[in-house]
Amino acid sequence: MTDRYAVFGNPIAHSKSPLIHRLFAAQTGEALTYEALLAPLDDFPAFARAFFAEGLGANVTVPFKEEAFRLADALTERARRAGAVNTLKKQADGRLLGDNTDGAGLVRDLTVNAGLSLRGQRILLLGAGGAVRGVLEPLLAEQPAELVIANRTVEKAEALARLFADLGPVAASGFDWIDAPVDLIINGTSASLAGERPPIAASLIQPGHTICYDMMYAKTPTAFNHWAAEQGAARTLDGLGMLVEQAAEAFYLWRGVRPDSAPVLAELRRQLAEG
Ligand code: ATR
Repeated sequence: MTDRYAVFGNPIAHSKSPLIHRLFAAQTGEALTYEALLAPLDDFPAFARAFFAEGLGANVTVPFKEEAFRLADALTERARRAGAVNTLKKQADGRLLGDNTDGAGLVRDLTVNAGLSLRGQRILLLGAGGAVRGVLEPLLAEQPAELVIANRTVEKAEALARLFADLGPVAASGFDWIDAPVDLIINGTSASLAGERPPIAASLIQPGHTICYDMMYAKTPTAFNHWAAEQGAARTLDGLGMLVEQAAEAFYLWRGVRPDSAPVLAELRRQLAEG
């Protein structure tokens, strides 16, 4: 029987994960199937367990990442820190390992694809929901000089800063934070979904220097990236690379083979422009 993989979500029809993993499999010569599965909102654990009677691995997306965290029999440190699981792997003894590759995907997109070094940098991270919590451990592991979490609801940023304080210099604030310009601003809010942007001070962007990254992506620049470019940001980057890189990390966890993400990212970029 062919090795079986899937992504669980609800909704799931528009997931790009099957395309990404099939391209990885073709490129590396790994024999596997990968499908998008609509999991029921009211009984995710039974659905996932049934899949793993045969299946070897799964990605988990909205809204099941916290349920997958609770389902996993063992967790990687980065998943434990994230409080969420986006990748499940059935181990030889049948137990499910829960991992979270989102943060590693973001860091790889920033460091390998965009060629940035995060060490010693001043980073502003916008948002304090699941998306931000999922990337904090890998970001802090890059040893930035300072990482400020700014959120509309400042208490949530403060709670996250406390949770991760042992991993590095992390602080919290509201969107009214004013300071010297930072090196990198990462938008991890879901504001882009509504065509909005976090109302941070333009003075945080140093024209020609500050790099802005939106974890979201769309056919046209997100509201945040559009605004950042207007303020003179040195570069604006979107989250399509993070999507491909988190998948590459999952593929590596499952198969022990690291796919070349560049041609897959180029294909997704081409399809996004056309779509
Ligand atoms: P996700 O899993 O995408 O992180 P979430 O946990 O619901 O989703 O968190 C959404 C994040 O986007 C939160 O930080 C939220 O701010 P609040 O904590 O104040 O609710 C932020 N957010 C959503 N819409 C926003 C908007 N229009 N402007 C600014 N921040 C927004």
